[in-house]
Amino acid sequence: MSDKINLQKEIKAHESADDFSIGRNLSFAATEAYKRLRASLIFCLPKNENKNCRVVGITSSNMGEGKSTTSFNLAYSLAESNQRVLCLEADMRLPKTSKRLNLKTTPGLSEWLVGEVADINSVIRKIDSNLYILPSGSTPPNPSELLSSAAMRHTIDLLSQAFNFILIDLPPIGAVADALNVAELVDGMILVVRREWTTRRSLASAVRELRLTNARILGFVFNEATESTQKRKKYKGYTNRYSDNYYTQSPKKDPGQPE
Ligand SMILES: Nc1ncnc2c1ncn2[C@@H]1O[C@H](COP(=O)(O)OP(=O)(O)O)[C@@H](O)[C@H]1O
Ligand SMILES: [Mg+2]
Repeated sequence: MSDKINLQKEIKAHESADDFSIGRNLSFAATEAYKRLRASLIFCLPKNENKNCRVVGITSSNMGEGKSTTSFNLAYSLAESNQRVLCLEADMRLPKTSKRLNLKTTPGLSEWLVGEVADINSVIRKIDSNLYILPSGSTPPNPSELLSSAAMRHTIDLLSQAFNFILIDLPPIGAVADALNVAELVDGMILVVRREWTTRRSLASAVRELRLTNARILGFVFNEATESTQKRKKYKGYTNRYSDNYYTQSPKKDPGQPE
């Protein structure tokens, strides 16, 4: 099948998927997997004495692969280890996390970037003592432009003064240029790959596009992996510095994409 995205089908699949637990409701196995991911991330991006904040983008080749789930659960895990963390919802077309957490979604990033909001604190929601989320806000007509604007760069600089980690939940690379536009603002990118969902071709193309941006690919998260390591062999050409498994909580599977 061609890699061209059927947006309607993708959105439907995305919306009809069962919601995986997030944050404190995760299973023991999933919590442990996110802790391993946290350790790998800290290992990949050691603390820099000149810079108190590490900025990480989370993206993937397509929708529904688990970027938002990974961003929030990794943020949650980092916050539990006493890091002050912000989860920045930058997928302005399909925001998910703030809705799942029943947070007020506006005003958010889009309102802040266009200057409708004067104080950045008024768009940041506190989830826990160390965990904060900046929701995407209302969907603007020009998300790509907003994400590549000088205002976005300034925002990351500003937020970097207040957090130890900023995890940017990005749109997929295959659909729009947004994630690529943000690549130069981050210290590194994590690519999420979902079992029986991500095609080799779309992953290879996402990696190619990211490499063109000089983004530092920190590694890959293999989402919804089973305990069988056999399945991971399928992706072994792509596992580089780290990868991790999230065990699915429900046997019910998303329809996925045919290869
Ligand atoms: N490991 C997993 N097991 C089961 N369901 C998952 C898993 N990861 C994500 N999901 C579900 O798949 C859907 C898409 O995940 P999401 O994180 O929103 O993807 P993306 O941000 O890449 O579009 C959501 O309903 C989410 O709850
Ligand atoms: Mg998402």
